[in-house]
Amino acid sequence: MAGPIPELEGRATRCARRLCEADRVLLASHIDADGLTSAAIAAQALERAGIPFETVFEKQLDEEAIAAIATTDYDTVCFTDFGSGQLDIIGEHEDAGDFTPVVADHHQPADRETEYHLNPLLFGIDGASELSGAGASYVLARALADISEPEVATDGGTASATARADNRDLAALAVVGAVGDMQASGGKLEGANEEIVEEGVEAGVLETGKDLTLYGKQTRPLPKLLEYATDVHIPGISNDQAGALQFLEDLDLELKRDGEWRRWSGLTNEEKRTVASALVKRAVSRGVPAKKIDNLVGTAYVLSEEPVGTELRDASEFSTLLNATARYERADVGLGVCLGNREGALERARTLLRNHRRNLSAGIDLVTREGVTHEEHIQWFHAGDRIRETIVGIVAGMAMGNDGVSRSKPIVAFAEKSDESEDGGEDVELKVSARGTHALVRNGLDLSVVMGEASRAVGGDGGGHDVAAGATVPKGRESEFLEHADEIAGEQLT
Ligand code: C5P
Ligand code: C5P
Ligand code: C5P
Ligand code: ZN
Repeated sequence: MAGPIPELEGRATRCARRLCEADRVLLASHIDADGLTSAAIAAQALERAGIPFETVFEKQLDEEAIAAIATTDYDTVCFTDFGSGQLDIIGEHEDAGDFTPVVADHHQPADRETEYHLNPLLFGIDGASELSGAGASYVLARALADISEPEVATDGGTASATARADNRDLAALAVVGAVGDMQASGGKLEGANEEIVEEGVEAGVLETGKDLTLYGKQTRPLPKLLEYATDVHIPGISNDQAGALQFLEDLDLELKRDGEWRRWSGLTNEEKRTVASALVKRAVSRGVPAKKIDNLVGTAYVLSEEPVGTELRDASEFSTLLNATARYERADVGLGVCLGNREGALERARTLLRNHRRNLSAGIDLVTREGVTHEEHIQWFHAGDRIRETIVGIVAGMAMGNDGVSRSKPIVAFAEKSDESEDGGEDVELKVSARGTHALVRNGLDLSVVMGEASRAVGGDGGGHDVAAGATVPKGRESEFLEHADEIAGEQLT
């Protein structure tokens, strides 16, 4: 049976065959929404193929992390959502006979190839916008189902049993991963991602449709949905508690039930249309540019098997819930949620989410209040230990467009690495995160090159995607690093 993305099929089959030959597999993945969904997809595919495995998560796949993996007695290591950028180091362990790597990733590959390497970039598919780590893992999962004897009973041949038998039910998690990596930020998923969406719809696990793009359609009470929706700023509503309330109260609708505000996901289509058109009307009357207003509507990805009104039903809310676990050293909780543990894990994830939200909002306030320093081609700030290194990139991206933070220059953020703060030794390292916009990328920006080259020039290392990248640099080398970064970004953008 054909896989979802024909270009990747041959390579996916080769990787899947290698996994089937293993007695057992160590599954290693990245600690963010895409990495968690990648691991959850691979884990279910391995389980269904009857291949024993164990899962580990890494904040960063550096030399140390790879060396630790090499000391385990697994002969086969499946890397998801990272691995390509570290193939040089991984290759040395492969040469030494430590393990055979099987990689399903979407990051810029290092200068070395390996036999079992599945990455859209090797086949002319954009890994920053067309396929995520979870997407690559999904392609691998589909190939695994194709070549292994299904352990899942195709009981009575119902649609959902067939979807499980060929792993198409995992398309929902692949979409959560892609959305978590901001691959739908242009309004909808495109390219290879769309093929996965289509399989998910056919499998009955996804629904798509035009809807408001506001974050929180499932879980936020209507006034909060509008007040916190700042991607498109609507004067008198965005960031305006009283204004948002008044706007809703002025509509001729019953938007409260038993004294409580209803949520978007519970409105009828008729009610949604009324609210949306009033919102657009307000935006027009307050002079919001038409192009911005267009961004209020986009394609929503709904996980149709999840309960209405929960974070799990909306791909964007689901991905934020996962970031709230993995970026706080609780990847186990997020993985549990992805694997269907809906009691204990979900409650713990929700507690972590409240904390994540507070941290994001405090971080964005900090950056906006203290401002950024503008160089010619980049802008930057140093968070020290006041923003966690694992979320400083998310904060930087969300702060872009706020007062004093330009959207016409990439933003670079420094934060202290949490695991090194105590010893205070000579070789303390800093985390760097960089974020751009799609418009800047169209003008030539490639932050993976900026972060990679500038960090290596000062004795660090980095990489990532054109629109979002990161690095590790030695403390004390910040200004030197920034000079390099400014120069490289300048060359790209002219
Ligand atoms: O390692 P990984 O690919 O998963 O990291 C992607 C990161 O880049 C995510 O945190 C995502 O929020 C960010 N990103 C972004 N804007 C984009 C694409 C990705 O901020 N357009
Ligand atoms: O946390 P994550 O990187 O998944 O966030 C993706 C996007 O979701 C953010 O860029 C932001 O627009 C939105 N978001 C939000 N409120 C939150 C968390 C995320 O609006 N509390
Ligand atoms: O950590 P952050 O969210 O800023 O990462 C943005 C992107 O840069 C991710 O895709 C991440 O995998 C990549 N990155 C990297 N090398 C680093 C740090 C981040 O390739 N040292
Ligand atoms: Zn990713």
